[in-house]
Amino acid sequence: MHHMERRTLVTMTAIVRNQWYVAAYGREVSRELFSRTICGEPILFWRTEGGEVTAMSDRCVHRRFPLSQSPSRLVDDTVVCGYHGFTYGADGVCVAVPGQKRVPRTARLTSYSVVEQDSFVWVWIADPERPGTADPSTIPRARWLDSPDWDAVSGVEHIDCNYGLLVDNLLDLSHETYLHGGYIGTPEVAETPITTEVDDDAGIVYVSRHMDDAQCPPFYSKSTGVQGRITRWQDIEYTPPCLYLLHSRIAPVGAALPADDGTDTEAFHTEIVYAITPETEHSTHDFWCVARDFARGDDEVSTFLAENNRTVVMQDVVALDVLQKALDAEKAGYQELSINIDAGGLAARRILAAMAAPAPVPVS
Ligand code: FES
Ligand SMILES: [Fe+2]
Repeated sequence: MHHMERRTLVTMTAIVRNQWYVAAYGREVSRELFSRTICGEPILFWRTEGGEVTAMSDRCVHRRFPLSQSPSRLVDDTVVCGYHGFTYGADGVCVAVPGQKRVPRTARLTSYSVVEQDSFVWVWIADPERPGTADPSTIPRARWLDSPDWDAVSGVEHIDCNYGLLVDNLLDLSHETYLHGGYIGTPEVAETPITTEVDDDAGIVYVSRHMDDAQCPPFYSKSTGVQGRITRWQDIEYTPPCLYLLHSRIAPVGAALPADDGTDTEAFHTEIVYAITPETEHSTHDFWCVARDFARGDDEVSTFLAENNRTVVMQDVVALDVLQKALDAEKAGYQELSINIDAGGLAARRILAAMAAPAPVPVS
């Protein structure tokens, strides 16, 4: 086997623009004004009376008062600023100001393209430096989250770290053995080598780890009822910057492999989805979801998986909060050492750096 050892300077992962990001779950956006900062931009979300999600800057053009802040309020399909009453339509255009009939032509909030899909609210974060098209057909899918054939649980946590640290974390699951022992980690995860593939055209990183004979960690034994040793497959599919899928297959050792047509009746499938959304360069929204095709409709299993996965996510949150503080305290020019397990993370960083690179200057 080829062994990699590489020393590299540690740098912060830059935010990539002209991209779709998960901003919220659909259930978080209602007729209440809801604010979340995405890629450094404070964004106001609300639903029109027709049920459409709409997104605009959360700063009034008049004196920058946050429109999410009481006593700002929704009146029908307009937002009334709680400071002096500037009033905006669902497209962000100001329709009324106090004390005069004429509304200044420039009185409009930046408005954002939004798409509600697979239980998420996706928002397009444009690049003011270069043109881009908010094409909804380019949004990567996570159909299990909103499918009648799957049961899903989900949540969102906040991390005080650059989003690159979460990308690194999710692309190298060998950390499950150490950071998540007793939950999802067993010795075999760290012991089993990975294969990494990069589809440069599609911009997708694949990392696979197939364990033939492994302990069944509590996350799976309690949810599936499988008690003995298992085959455990972890197939990661990361579409930078935002969407991370972990296709997880577990089956008792000796169970049949998937058939050629993909049917796989002797195994338990879990689709673990993360959306990795920069809040700022220094903080991250960590959306996590667990969808399963077994124990359908079993509320106890849903509650167990939600609580167990949230515990696991919080182990990562605590670790990454600490790691970012440690990195911030380093002297300039410090290096890190990468080995085989880091191949996926390094590939992801390379793609993210290329996506964030400044546009080439046209030669005339
Ligand atoms: S700050 Fe909004 S109306 Fe004055
Ligand atoms: Fe983790």
